[in-house]
Amino acid sequence: MSEMIKLTFRDAAGQAQTVEVPPHGTVMEAAMLNNIAGIVAECGGGCSCATCHVYVDQEWLDRLPAPAPEESDLVEFLDRAQPNSRLSCQLELNPDLDGLTVQTPPDQT
Ligand code: FES
Repeated sequence: MSEMIKLTFRDAAGQAQTVEVPPHGTVMEAAMLNNIAGIVAECGGGCSCATCHVYVDQEWLDRLPAPAPEESDLVEFLDRAQPNSRLSCQLELNPDLDGLTVQTPPDQT
């Protein structure tokens, strides 16, 4: 069995929840498995709904692969887009992401 990694989800009020997940799948899938509030994922990871939007902590931003054009195009139209906005269904987990911290937007319920 592969080693688990830790992911931390912080809500807009600053409440943090850390979960342990296997280092595969996506950040969105890890959130769904752990019932993280604020990640809805209506399209199930199809990169078309943007209800899996998160803000990635600055220290992790450069350690993630750049977004594909489909992701960038969707994020561009979000009201609450910030430079550190990503779609969590497009963030593939791997062992190097142990400790990754993201914040969920206030309006995503
Ligand atoms: Fe729909 Fe990520 S789950 S865009």
